[in-house]
Amino acid sequence: MEIISSEALSIQHEKVGTYEFSRFEKIHNVVFEKSSKASYLVAKEIADLIRSKAKRDEKCILGLATGSSPIRVYEELIKMHREEGLSFKNVITFNLDEYYPMNPESIHSYHYFMNENLFNHIDIPKDQIHIPEGTIPQEKIHEYCAAYENKIESYGGLDFQLLGIGRTGHIGFNEPGSHYNSVTRSITLDQLTREDAASSFLGIENVPKKAITMGVGTVTNAKRIVLLAWGHKKAEIIKRTIEGEISSQIPATYLQEHSNTTFVLDTEAASLLTRFESPWLVDAVEWTNAMTKRAVIWLCDKLEKSILRLTDKDYNENGLAYLLTEKGSSYDLNIEMFNQLQHTITGWPGGKPNADDSKRPERKSPEKKRVIIFSPHPDDDVISMGGTFDRLVAQGHEVHIAYQTSGNIAVSNADALKFAEVAMDFLPEGKELEKLRSTIKAIEQKKENEIDPIEVRELKGLIRKRESIAATRYFDVPDEQVHFLNLPFYETGAVKKNPLGEQDINIVKNLIETIKPHQVYAAGDLADPHGTHKVCLDAVFKAMRELKSEAYMDDCWLWLYRGAWHEWEIHEIDMAVPMSPDQVLRKRKAIFFHQTQKDGVLFQGEDLREFWVRAEDRNKKTAAHYRKLGLADYAAIEAFKRFEY
Ligand code: F6R
Repeated sequence: MEIISSEALSIQHEKVGTYEFSRFEKIHNVVFEKSSKASYLVAKEIADLIRSKAKRDEKCILGLATGSSPIRVYEELIKMHREEGLSFKNVITFNLDEYYPMNPESIHSYHYFMNENLFNHIDIPKDQIHIPEGTIPQEKIHEYCAAYENKIESYGGLDFQLLGIGRTGHIGFNEPGSHYNSVTRSITLDQLTREDAASSFLGIENVPKKAITMGVGTVTNAKRIVLLAWGHKKAEIIKRTIEGEISSQIPATYLQEHSNTTFVLDTEAASLLTRFESPWLVDAVEWTNAMTKRAVIWLCDKLEKSILRLTDKDYNENGLAYLLTEKGSSYDLNIEMFNQLQHTITGWPGGKPNADDSKRPERKSPEKKRVIIFSPHPDDDVISMGGTFDRLVAQGHEVHIAYQTSGNIAVSNADALKFAEVAMDFLPEGKELEKLRSTIKAIEQKKENEIDPIEVRELKGLIRKRESIAATRYFDVPDEQVHFLNLPFYETGAVKKNPLGEQDINIVKNLIETIKPHQVYAAGDLADPHGTHKVCLDAVFKAMRELKSEAYMDDCWLWLYRGAWHEWEIHEIDMAVPMSPDQVLRKRKAIFFHQTQKDGVLFQGEDLREFWVRAEDRNKKTAAHYRKLGLADYAAIEAFKRFEY
């Protein structure tokens, strides 16, 4: 089944009835290649509703969400207000939730979020905005919540409810266990929800334990519901919500019973739905080589068999009879697929000199290549492709490392203080010492969760720079081949970054123009709309596309590693670089040089493993998968996908 990406697609509720549900799906959903396009269409639906209500002189009652998912929708609404005169004078809003306790002035409050991202930029009268108060005294909460609920009812209920979804399956903050007819109330946040919020609160210990939220019943009483989900991280919960049974353990599944709900997804969030993960089970598919490879690997995983052991019966009994009809026998198909996977494996990521390269992932010539490894933060290079990096240098290629951002916000105050104090002990009296003293004072006086002053950020950036140089020296890269780009979009001092600008792209372009590389490696986190990795990747894409007409770019191949969080699926891999046990240890050591990122980093996220453990687990898992498919048994494998830019 195709991804819906048509310009003409409308997600408005009239369309719901015409959507063909696959037999696995219980909630109407539309999938977009880009969350930006999807957000625009959702904003348009909201705007149309506001306008049609205004025409009839009616109020439009909107239920609104916070979090990363709706940000772009709000941006589009602001744009429509500015450029098309969309007025919010007839709009009454009710936000889903607020942390408790929470001061509305705090940068972490949902009051602050809504003002920053929407209300400050539109013409909605302030008294038409409702957001649960995080300052209500404990004993008054019950009464307060009942009044919030009544207020919504007094307007005749919500016309439109915008939702995100948490990885626990929460909507609003209705965590697992919430009842389908629950109302606005106080709730204890799930641990996973708090972990997901940890990075914006600069540590899980700062995330409130409670919240006030509209209930499931409040939400499902809305006449129209649109739920947004972007990125890989949401894929699992989206599959369980759309295809699973209704359960209080996943409150979003209650939406299966709402007759006018649409889930608006990007391809990554939708990727585990049966119609995308194994489309041959849903509909007839075109058996391209990529689709065939996917199906064969899927069958091996399902039956826990290696490729060369699959039989005609295996294909027939598991919904792949059509594939066999098209391809002849399992014998030929198995061999063809086995060989294709075999040819992805190479110990020569820069190409093997004097070898037949017709079946190898990389060209043999030029024998010595110029290589740029783009690393979004100062450590992704060694975490995500340390083994390949090491080999490229050892095999004589001219390897340049380009750290795209300073990574300064991920250094703790304690670490910054340690380095500053060492320098202070060492320096004689003078101007430098004065600067250090004031930096130390700034660290000590900084209030919790406050943005670092510039000199503290500078110090933190320098610490990461020196850690990186220690690692690149360990891999024998000359210092002059290590480039710190310090892209300006990153330098806000906060988790929220600026959008990518021309200056960022020019910096990346200049480096490529100077080096004229034969290979570029970049972190291929293709979705994750607000993440630093995606912005860094966009900078590389934009720069390479702008330079495409230059003659030297004809020889430049782009290889994507997958960033710190996920690995490519086996069927997506174009180059698999195996590592021996010793090489695994060298990679581990290179990661160790990034000391400020060891033993409990500032932005731990949901995965509590340290980076080196995470990296090794992932590389071992890829190797184990290759082995299970019947290929050679390696200690670890790093994976890459070639990308046409
Ligand atoms: C926000 C809310 C939550 C979020 C959900 C997803 O008001 O109620 O349910 O929608 O946690 O958050 P993001 O969009 O940040 O992934």
